[in-house]
Amino acid sequence: MAVTGIETLLFGVEDLAKCTRFFDDFGLTQKSASDEHTHYQLEEGSNVILRPMDDPRVPKSDYLGYGVKKVYWGVDTQENLDELAEKLALKQPIQRDNDGTVHFVTGSGLPSALRVFNRKKVTYAPDPVNAPGNVKRLNTQRKWKTRARPKTITHTVFAVPDPRAEYEWYRDNLGFRMSEEQIGMGFYLRCDGANEHHNLFLINMKFPALPGHPLYHHTNFGVEDIDELMIGTNYMTRKGWNTGPLGSGRHRIASALFSYLECPAGGEAEYGADSDYIDDNWIPREWNQVFATYSWMHKIPAFLGGAQKWEFRLHPEFTPKAEGKADAGWE
Ligand SMILES: [Fe+2]
Repeated sequence: MAVTGIETLLFGVEDLAKCTRFFDDFGLTQKSASDEHTHYQLEEGSNVILRPMDDPRVPKSDYLGYGVKKVYWGVDTQENLDELAEKLALKQPIQRDNDGTVHFVTGSGLPSALRVFNRKKVTYAPDPVNAPGNVKRLNTQRKWKTRARPKTITHTVFAVPDPRAEYEWYRDNLGFRMSEEQIGMGFYLRCDGANEHHNLFLINMKFPALPGHPLYHHTNFGVEDIDELMIGTNYMTRKGWNTGPLGSGRHRIASALFSYLECPAGGEAEYGADSDYIDDNWIPREWNQVFATYSWMHKIPAFLGGAQKWEFRLHPEFTPKAEGKADAGWE
């Protein structure tokens, strides 16, 4: 039952021309475009499709606002897709297209689909990093880039009414794994056929900075390294686009480099690099919310400032309790 990652993100947008300009500048490659859509395809074969919000092909749901209105998850084989669809059909309505795509909604009502996806392996060759006494590049410069050209869709993020219930829905119906829990914030999930630290993050929609209803939050696009991430960000700001409130830095959770940009298609678009990669040997952890958010940021916003509480531990749900010892809380 291998779900391998995001096959397509279907966006409902307000201004197709402006959003197309954004993703062109962001570094995605157009496959086709018309007055009604823009279709980008990344090197791994995944897709970003933009359509005007009032296009009947953009599904309506409780997820309000512009942004991703439907997620198509890739499955490695038709056999595995059939197995997932049969299991799902026992619990809830599904619809099948002639091309084999299976449509459904998640526990919280997000329009979604499964489709066979031969996710192509992409090639990166990040420059080795030097440190005194640990020279990996001798008489060799780093690559000079002028643009970011993301090759993968790493993860997408939604604010949901009940992150635990939604996590359990993905776990029980699509075989997703928990990667981490960020206390008070939400759950990071990984597809069973993927090694990205997470392919989906479910945030509690009641989190103070959010409007309190289900919505699309952001998508992470994979680039090679910190140079591509920041060169892309510089290019975007030169083109008049704005960085998001968190700007750029390194998350402590997933060890991932990030750079957020406000996206006219809804939410934010994130360049990502140098994340942790994990498999089923990974033991999920639970994290203090602020501690998890960053190990450094180029500019720390006031609400994340101050001393961080060094609070994280192996997730109790995945670790047997020591005999005779009550749960002692944070280690
Ligand atoms: Fe992200």
